[in-house]
Amino acid sequence: MYQVQFSAASTEEFYEKLQNNAQFLFNLEQDWLANLSNAAAMIGLNMDRINWVGFYLWRREQLILGPFWGKPACTRIEIGKGVCGTAVATMQAQLVENVADFPGHIACDAASQSELVIPFTAPDGRLLGVLDIDSPELSRFNRKDICGMNRFIEILVSASEWPEVLL
Ligand code: SME
Repeated sequence: MYQVQFSAASTEEFYEKLQNNAQFLFNLEQDWLANLSNAAAMIGLNMDRINWVGFYLWRREQLILGPFWGKPACTRIEIGKGVCGTAVATMQAQLVENVADFPGHIACDAASQSELVIPFTAPDGRLLGVLDIDSPELSRFNRKDICGMNRFIEILVSASEWPEVLL
């Protein structure tokens, strides 16, 4: 069943509900931009202890700000720069317990203390961008969030049609 807003007593329950909502909502629409926009809103509205969530998209050989929830943020990030650019350079999720300890962290919202960035690709393997989530608490995220968000992104990516290039 689809619920615009929900509560969860555990991380497991949160991801079960988030993924069920994603299955429902993203399968009603194939447009990538519409689905990314609803994805940011769905996480922003329902995930507790976060202050920003959004997508940076791989366009013109750099990351450019895409749909998000939260305060206006920096618009362009080069590969290798900040947490997002590092996620792209390594193609590995970045779990940052304390952003102050991450060399080169780019502070868009001064409230952010910990961060999770997950790169994602199209079914053919080409890079689409990263999902970035910030929290005003230290060590807000853990490996369960990486697994849960990876599954969420998988649902989003497979339900949507992606253009050859995100111009
Ligand atoms: N902190 C990110 C920049 C984006 S904001 O968190 C929205 C980084 O270091 O790449």
